[in-house]
Amino acid sequence: MAGTPPGTGLAPAELERFATLAALEAVARRRLSEAALEYVAGGSWDETTLRENGEAFRRLRFRARVLSGVTAADLSTTILGRPVRTPLGVAPMAQHGFCHPDGEVPAARAAAAAGWTFALSTLATRSLEDVAAATVDLGGARRWFQLYVQEDFDLSRSLVERAEAAGYEAIVVTVDLPMVGYRGRDLRGTGLTLRRGNFPNVALDDTKTIGRRHPPLTWDLLDTVSGWTRLPLIVKGILDPDDACLAVAHGAAGVVVSNHGGRQLDRVPASIEALPAVADAVAGSAEVYLDGGVRRGLDVVMALALGARAVFVGRPILYGIAAGGEAGAARAMEIIRMETERAMILLGAQAIRDLGPELLIPAVR
Ligand SMILES: Cc1cc2nc3c(=O)[nH]c(=O)nc-3n(C[C@H](O)[C@H](O)[C@H](O)COP(=O)(O)O)c2cc1C
Repeated sequence: MAGTPPGTGLAPAELERFATLAALEAVARRRLSEAALEYVAGGSWDETTLRENGEAFRRLRFRARVLSGVTAADLSTTILGRPVRTPLGVAPMAQHGFCHPDGEVPAARAAAAAGWTFALSTLATRSLEDVAAATVDLGGARRWFQLYVQEDFDLSRSLVERAEAAGYEAIVVTVDLPMVGYRGRDLRGTGLTLRRGNFPNVALDDTKTIGRRHPPLTWDLLDTVSGWTRLPLIVKGILDPDDACLAVAHGAAGVVVSNHGGRQLDRVPASIEALPAVADAVAGSAEVYLDGGVRRGLDVVMALALGARAVFVGRPILYGIAAGGEAGAARAMEIIRMETERAMILLGAQAIRDLGPELLIPAVR
């Protein structure tokens, strides 16, 4: 059934049979067209960093201590000073519409219901106002808006102002895409290029290319963007501790340690490898988040232990909506939450504050 148009998806009862993100991904792979799958799954160049994002987590080892008496784990914490039920979020991803006809709405609704933060991409298939309106009935949705600064500063500014007006709580400025990475899967022709999408937030249709509409990205740009809003600024795409410090010096309230899921510069470190030095350098002066390769609750616990305040998940959420719409995304979120809680209990950690670098074996952390 390859190439089946996404839409109906599996029912919630059927989704319960899937107990891992890998199993949900297998369902999604059968339902997505080859082009959509290449776009979502692909990385840049040899996809070295894409592979390493996952492998680097699997190289780390926990220090197993026993008889802690812990029987339950509490995932609640704060992000940017506000209480949240989980330290988890959906990474900003362009064009959920390639995976589900309702675009970003299913994942945004699932996130609101599960207490996850939802980051909406500038290049979303649905307008930022639509996505905000679609989660109103669920209450308490934590939404961030991801900004690709556009060449047209008036347009960029209006995006930020619209996001603030629509109740988004932070502006995530993505800094690792001065141009798109060399993505062979998209370039070889069978792949899907963003040209074939639609972009209501930036009022571009598929007759215009978006690849060259970015201004040169500089540190000054962060000052410009923060001049447009009272919302906290989060800088996404940091791998180097010196850059993390510069981001903080330019007013960032948070940095996302990310290599764009291995889609931008290849042969950069895996996110989890880059995290400890960034967390050390920032030393509490801003929050540090991580995305890239998170597929297991074990990965979440490791990232939190090594200094992440929150952990964002990308592709598995798109596979969730491809497999079963809102219920599919909800199932993906539930799997990660259950795995995270289980891992914390087995580690003897009752709460997020109990997670620190001492839980990993020093030689490999
Ligand atoms: C299909 C797809 C589209 C993406 N679009 C964006 C985007 O519009 N803006 C952005 O900042 N990051 C984008 N990213 C990167 C994600 O925010 C995130 O860094 C990455 O997916 C995390 O890795 P993971 O997929 O291994 O969890 C995209 C990633 C994917 C897979």
